[in-house]
Amino acid sequence: MYNPSPLKTDTPLILGIETSCDETAAAVVRGRKLLSDVIISSATEQAKYGGVVPEIASRAHTDAVDVAVRAALERAGVAPAQLNAVAVTYGAGLLGALLVGLSFAKSFAYSLNLPLIAVNHVRGHLAASYLVDESLQPPFVSLLASGGHTAILLAESYTSYAFLGGTCDDAAGEAFDKVARVLGLPYPGGPNVQKLAVCGTNSVPLPRCLVKNSSRLQFSYSGLKTAVINYCHTLTMRGEKIPAADVAKSFQCAAIDPLVDKTVECALSRGVNTVTAGGGVAANAYLRERLTSACRKAGLKLVLPEKKYCTDNGAMIAAEGLIRYAAGDFAPLSINAAAQIKL
Ligand code: KG4
Ligand code: ZN
Repeated sequence: MYNPSPLKTDTPLILGIETSCDETAAAVVRGRKLLSDVIISSATEQAKYGGVVPEIASRAHTDAVDVAVRAALERAGVAPAQLNAVAVTYGAGLLGALLVGLSFAKSFAYSLNLPLIAVNHVRGHLAASYLVDESLQPPFVSLLASGGHTAILLAESYTSYAFLGGTCDDAAGEAFDKVARVLGLPYPGGPNVQKLAVCGTNSVPLPRCLVKNSSRLQFSYSGLKTAVINYCHTLTMRGEKIPAADVAKSFQCAAIDPLVDKTVECALSRGVNTVTAGGGVAANAYLRERLTSACRKAGLKLVLPEKKYCTDNGAMIAAEGLIRYAAGDFAPLSINAAAQIKL
């Protein structure tokens, strides 16, 4: 462990670096103000293979990480030596992809004698809301829905989250991606299901993602995904045309309605007056509309990051970095990347 540099400004300047999947991203924050934000995506390259190929993602990060960091610093008008800390995603994600960002961040921090902050990607998604509204403070209830996680959490403090409920199998984003594949839609699946759903009706009978008769609040996406596959398979066997837009719309409602309803219920039952959301699925237009109107009806304040700050980005890593910085939670240079980590 090396010594963190002394505070150089009253409001810390933090660089955030994110390389857990197919986005190479870097951002600079001054306190809770976002100064710059750069995202270089390899999604177009990945689309040729119908999904994220880990080897391609790692190589793309290697090409892009210094470009993204340099651009983020330039756009922020911040020299490397002015930074107070370097925050980087160390998990969860693709191991090779994480290692590129983490190794870069370690060398960068070491060469400038800056503290290194290791950020949990999921906490990054949750922290993105702090940049939207500078007055946001715990407690609040957060809906987290991404490609790897689906949960409703209570932010008890800046550093402590209580788990209120979540999926017992697949994540919501994973189900969107699977359904997209079944409907023959290209990668990335979620946004394409959303697009197709616009011209469909909620007319296909599908199970909702809520697990009934459970003592805990649980969601299940595996059964919903299988129901879509079986529905499409049966029609194909009969030689009938699959009403793709109706399937997309019906799936979207079944996958999202219970998430929204339960998030609002959790906030009300806990006596919390603010709701936030994060993760790639929170970029879904239907989810955003439903959550906005449900919160309004319930008299709850909703803090919802812009779509680009719901999917993977560097700003959310810098935001969580700020929280860790304030807590003095710095990482040793020996820290390793981890494909799976707990919240
Ligand atoms: O947070 P994210 O960018 O990466 C992870 O941490 O997993 O989330 C990616 C997931 C993918 O499954 C993607 O299909 C889904 O978020 N997603 C969406 C939308 N945009 C991204 N799902 C539904 N509608 C969208 N507009
Ligand atoms: Zn993510």
